[in-house]
Amino acid sequence: MSAQALLSVNDLRVSFDTRLGEVHAVNGVNFEVRQGEILGVVGESGCGKSATLRAIVGLTQTPGRIDSGEVRFQDRDLLAMPPRELRRTRGRDIGFISQSPFGALNPILSIERQFANIIRAHRKESRKQCRAEALQALASVGIAGPERVLDGYAHELSGGMAQRVVIAMAMIHNPLLLLADEPTTALDVTVQRQILDLITGLIKEDNRSMLLVTHDLSVVAQYCTRVMVMYAGKPVEIGSVREVFKNPKHPYTKALLDAVPKADGEIKGLSGSLPDLINYPVGCPYVSRCKFASDVCLERMPAMTQESGTRAVACHHQLVSSEVA
Ligand SMILES: Nc1ncnc2c1ncn2[C@@H]1O[C@H](COP(=O)(O)OP(=O)(O)OP(=O)(O)O)[C@@H](O)[C@H]1O
Ligand code: SF4
Ligand SMILES: [Mg+2]
Repeated sequence: MSAQALLSVNDLRVSFDTRLGEVHAVNGVNFEVRQGEILGVVGESGCGKSATLRAIVGLTQTPGRIDSGEVRFQDRDLLAMPPRELRRTRGRDIGFISQSPFGALNPILSIERQFANIIRAHRKESRKQCRAEALQALASVGIAGPERVLDGYAHELSGGMAQRVVIAMAMIHNPLLLLADEPTTALDVTVQRQILDLITGLIKEDNRSMLLVTHDLSVVAQYCTRVMVMYAGKPVEIGSVREVFKNPKHPYTKALLDAVPKADGEIKGLSGSLPDLINYPVGCPYVSRCKFASDVCLERMPAMTQESGTRAVACHHQLVSSEVA
């Protein structure tokens, strides 16, 4: 764990028991989130982004299982914490915004009651004070008519409103670290930026940290300091947003960047699909889609190697600038 790291994830592995066999969703994930940074996490659907985040905050549910790993937050291993302590840490020091807002809300408690539960889990406050804080939090994420929302239930909210409520709940204790799994997907584009401005503004204000999962590379470019590219449950490239976007060294990173629609309307798209996560490949998981593949790629899994102080890449034949152009 480096001196600046607030969170350090080491060799995290998560699998899901399914009818067809064990799905190896997270396969040895290593990364750090440093004090004051926003780390973006990208990778196509099914590459283990949500499974990684949920494991970090202790929300892996059956049929999922954490097979191994260590998640150090402020020098303590979250995976080894008693559940009660982990719940306290999760609500207060680590905020979590899950990918599905309705899954995060309790259907049978009023929104006011849910806010009160979150506030009172960490502080002794009167009902009046909890209500005032909740109203303020809802107003800050742009909910019009926060009283009506507070008095209502989750099923009365639209997808976008539910997402804002979940964001307001996650931010209420001003956490040191915010884990946000596609926090604005249910919102329309203009509102997405508004909410991201708001969340990242709060994070930056106090030199706090954030891990932001998104499919939108322009969001990474605009808000993140560093980026981690995941493929088949593993990070394949990590580095500063500027250097990774300018000069990608992993063929998958390059394919993802090429797949962003261009101003002239050209769309390259990603060809092929993820490997079978039940019979996980022994070599490089990207081999079936990679035009640079050789025999060694079939035989040996490339290890993540540190290129410089900031960049790490897992590829036997990293791209050089001439191949990138
Ligand atoms: N409850 C579950 N049961 C079985 N398999 C699961 C379960 N949850 C996730 N998986 C599998 O784990 C793998 C990783 O899923 P995960 O949700 O982490 O992907 P993701 O990167 O977040 O994708 P997306 O971008 O679509 O949200 C996938 O192959 C998925 O099918
Ligand atoms: S290790 Fe081989 S197959 Fe994998 S990305 Fe690199 S060149 Fe392609
Ligand atoms: Mg996901």
